[in-house]
Amino acid sequence: MHVNPVTVDVIAIDGPSASGKGTVAQMVAERLGFHYLDSGAIYRAAAHAAQQAGLDLENAPALEQEIAAVAGAMELRFADGLILLANRDVGSQLRTEGCGREASKIAALPAVRAALLQRQRDFRQAPGLVADGRDMGSVVFPDAALKVFLTAGVEERARRRALQLAAAARPDDPKRLIGKENSGNIDALFAAVLDDLRARDERDSKRAVAPLAQLRDARLLDTSGLSIQQAVQQVLAWTREVQSGEAQSGNPQNGNPQNAISHGR
Ligand code: DC
Repeated sequence: MHVNPVTVDVIAIDGPSASGKGTVAQMVAERLGFHYLDSGAIYRAAAHAAQQAGLDLENAPALEQEIAAVAGAMELRFADGLILLANRDVGSQLRTEGCGREASKIAALPAVRAALLQRQRDFRQAPGLVADGRDMGSVVFPDAALKVFLTAGVEERARRRALQLAAAARPDDPKRLIGKENSGNIDALFAAVLDDLRARDERDSKRAVAPLAQLRDARLLDTSGLSIQQAVQQVLAWTREVQSGEAQSGNPQNGNPQNAISHGR
């Protein structure tokens, strides 16, 4: 069902790569019964589609218009936990570190961002939306009812991502890769992931258009010492706070009816 977007609540969760914002956003959406937008997956899909179309992303800036055209036209659907590009499940290809790097490159191009803007806004459907990315609160949903900047130290993020990659590489016995006898492997993986995350942080936060940054109206959630459950609980607590603020004033926050959070369970 499509509802006039201005009446639908949005919780915007922005933050750097591997901060855990995707997991937290998804769990918050589940708890509230809201829709979920993984905007990074849209940038990853655009990078993948551009490569499939034969565009060399090493020269991304020179191919800005061509990449934007592919991004705008790609046939992308999220269905039952799958990510379908032209009806093919590309979920596992999109989740690779390489695809994340390519996505970060094309995401710096203004024409690509413009081509993907409405596609993201279309996720704003009743009863509400939890959206995660880099510019959810600043550009895509500037009137979001709640804005969260979710982050963790770069070393902590690299540690989490390296453990995830190690577990994915050996699903039968993840500890083999992270045990003492293989500590060289995990150390090397950690070092590579750390370098990669630093480069992506730099690119995502220094770009001219929609850079990653904590907004003045966003609440900071540093998950360095927190479990996922604790981070989810904090976002839910803030959501309740926004809701009760609205209830007390009889009006949504800032007196702006576009921001209303009136759902949840
Ligand atoms: O969240 P992620 O790692 O899946 O995102 C992949 C890349 O896409 C990220 O390095 C930067 C870009 N991105 C963006 O520029 N804006 C967004 N809203 C989401 C992702």
